Amino acid sequence: MDIVVSGVRPTGNLHLGNYFGALKSFIKMQEEHHCYFFIADYHSLTTHPNPADLHGNVKTVLVEFLACGLDPEKVTLYVQSDLPETAELYLLLNMNAYVGELERCTSFKEKIRSQPQNVNAGLLTYPTLMAADIIIHRARMVPVGKDQEQHLEMTRTFANRFNRLYNVDYFPEPVAFNFGENLIKIPGLDGGLKMSKSDNENSSIFLADSPEMIRKKVMKAVTDTGAVDPAQPRSQGVKNLFDLMGYFSNADTLEHFENSYRSGSIRYGDMKKQLAEDIILFTTPFREKMEALYADEPYLRKVAAMGAEKARASASKTVREVREIIGFKPF
Ligand code: TYM
Repeated sequence: MDIVVSGVRPTGNLHLGNYFGALKSFIKMQEEHHCYFFIADYHSLTTHPNPADLHGNVKTVLVEFLACGLDPEKVTLYVQSDLPETAELYLLLNMNAYVGELERCTSFKEKIRSQPQNVNAGLLTYPTLMAADIIIHRARMVPVGKDQEQHLEMTRTFANRFNRLYNVDYFPEPVAFNFGENLIKIPGLDGGLKMSKSDNENSSIFLADSPEMIRKKVMKAVTDTGAVDPAQPRSQGVKNLFDLMGYFSNADTLEHFENSYRSGSIRYGDMKKQLAEDIILFTTPFREKMEALYADEPYLRKVAAMGAEKARASASKTVREVREIIGFKPF
């Protein structure tokens, strides 16, 4: 039994990338490990959400976690800001995190490019907050998508540095993990490498999208224009469509479209129609469960309170021990 931690930022509905990169592993891991899964609302403050939206977004992710099959009796399911111990560990880790290494982080460099008007200190120290989330439960495994790999590398650096500085063997080295597979990156419908809400809302299909919405988005997905030349490398958009089909359609369907691509007779319209129906088949059970959960406020309140209590028991023990290691002592 290993200790597992992971989180998702509450920026609205979960998309298929979140599901395959994270949720799918959460659901499998809850059966075998000691799991802590949380809604990363401190992290979402880097983009300054309006207070009225923040709570709604947290609720959305909580509902969607449960609709996907997370069982709050088996895992500790909590909201990050219900654990102020995380903020204390973040402060302590920041003392040994160097500005140079934080500035070199790929996601920080991307933010400088995409939001030059809001390069705040929270963005710079995003990796230390993420490290605090993970090592506060002394976790070894972190189910995440491929985009989080570098953050996990930094978490290992901070954990090891703490151990070395205080000459202890306190924090284990956590690893990015996907249940039974390599780390995953689900592509976007816009021809981009990654399905991402912040890059382009239309690149994403959400678990909550209606069948009509899914059909509309998939039919608009970027592919090639002009005649298909199977001898040429596939464009990113076409590659993405085939990759998505690999996740949602059965092997015969994929084979059929592979063959028609190779023979030059493929019609992307037909392929998209089929892909949309297969995605709808996949997402429908989740969507149906979400509706009932949204209405059940008392249950959601109970789940969040139970999660906060269990998570705080683990986090406060770590912070107490870390304080002792550092040398904070009562008079
Ligand atoms: P976030 O909220 O951007 O994404 C949540 C999870 O979804 C995965 N993901 C994807 N996986 C595959 N393909 C995609 N297109 C795709 N898009 C998103 C992400 O890899 C992630 O696993 N920093 C984290 C949240 C976080 C966290 C943590 C995670 C905060 N503290 C501690 C693990 C441990 C984030 O922004 O994820």
